[in-house]
Amino acid sequence: MNRLGLYCSRCSARLPFRYQEMKCDCGGTLLVDYDLEHIARTLTKEALQTRYPSMWRYKELLPVSNPDCIITLGEGWTPLLRMQEWEQKLPIKRLWIKREEQNPTGSFKSRGFSVAVSLLKEAGATKAAVPSNGNAAGAFAAYAGRAGIEASVFIPMDCPPLIVDECPLYGAATFFVDGFIHDAAAIIEAGKQDQGWVNIGTLKEPGRVEGKKTMGLELAEQLGWTFPDVIIYPTGGGSGIIGMWKAYQELKELRWIDGPMPRFVCVQEEGCQPIVDGIACSQAESDQAAGVEASPTGMRVPNPPDLAFILSIVEQSGGTAIALSKSQIAEATRTLGSQGISASPEGSATWAGLLALCDSGWLRPSDSVVLFNTSHAMKYVKFGSISALPIIKSYEDYCRL
Ligand SMILES: Cc1ncc(COP(=O)(O)O)c(C=O)c1O
Repeated sequence: MNRLGLYCSRCSARLPFRYQEMKCDCGGTLLVDYDLEHIARTLTKEALQTRYPSMWRYKELLPVSNPDCIITLGEGWTPLLRMQEWEQKLPIKRLWIKREEQNPTGSFKSRGFSVAVSLLKEAGATKAAVPSNGNAAGAFAAYAGRAGIEASVFIPMDCPPLIVDECPLYGAATFFVDGFIHDAAAIIEAGKQDQGWVNIGTLKEPGRVEGKKTMGLELAEQLGWTFPDVIIYPTGGGSGIIGMWKAYQELKELRWIDGPMPRFVCVQEEGCQPIVDGIACSQAESDQAAGVEASPTGMRVPNPPDLAFILSIVEQSGGTAIALSKSQIAEATRTLGSQGISASPEGSATWAGLLALCDSGWLRPSDSVVLFNTSHAMKYVKFGSISALPIIKSYEDYCRL
């Protein structure tokens, strides 16, 4: 087996593989450790090319040891779309959008939950629960349904109704929480013993980071085993940034890539921006639970579980973090829509961030940039918001408008 155990992202302690309690005694986050020397000897880039286009093409770098336990809905290998027209208009060299909205549950969350639910299956778990701003709940519900695992999802009550409504459709026990995502997480922590739930919230178990790592592996493969200069990613709990950073470390150790680490840019919405504030004041103590004003999206996480880790990744990569206003994000949704791309507010924030970083001169004319469109615009449609459209029955009606 390629999975050796766990290592601490802060103090480098090594531990046997376990499945819950991913905090080291020093407070650092535990990550999966692989036998990369063995993988380098036995797996080649050429062999990968013959495999099915899904994220499970990287199975040697994923922690599921029993292939019969893999729960898949066809996730990953999403298109990387080049935006040539915008390369002409913006002061950067190359621009792509990674179309994560094309995953089986309409968001990048499919990746993390494919691995997390496979690990649940492997461990023989029958019940699990997740706190979520929506997309994680939908993805967990779908994969748990396929695995025959009883899912409970806890979602702040102002989250997008279409995303929430999908959860019972997949068979999950679905609850609105009068509060934020950390309030939802507190309910699970309080009830997990009584209810027998495995808590698969952000950084509570090893699978979700590993699944998100495949975004980085895939990006490198799609770019001919190179990374772009800059990755702009909508950040909430931070497991996507941690996963892509880990992909870079592992590919470097495998000697499959040799360039510098991409500069990671975290985008958030104004009114809930712990990463932006943490970068600005170089410390990880910005508890933002009070006074949250940002919209209910995946970026609205006032207290990321390991803020210090996210800040260290952004800093060591030479990246930055930027907060965008609601109107900048809404404008970006329209711009991407006019290019045929259905972008969620989170995905749109990457576009708004790109424009702001071009304006400020932070991005360089030689930079290649990848934006992550992490979910679909459609999932965020509010009931009633299309009622302003004209209703007609004939061409005469049309002419009278
Ligand atoms: C669409 C979308 N984008 C981005 C994020 C934030 O991702 P991460 O938890 O990896 O920071 C989320 C999380 O809920 C999300 O749903």
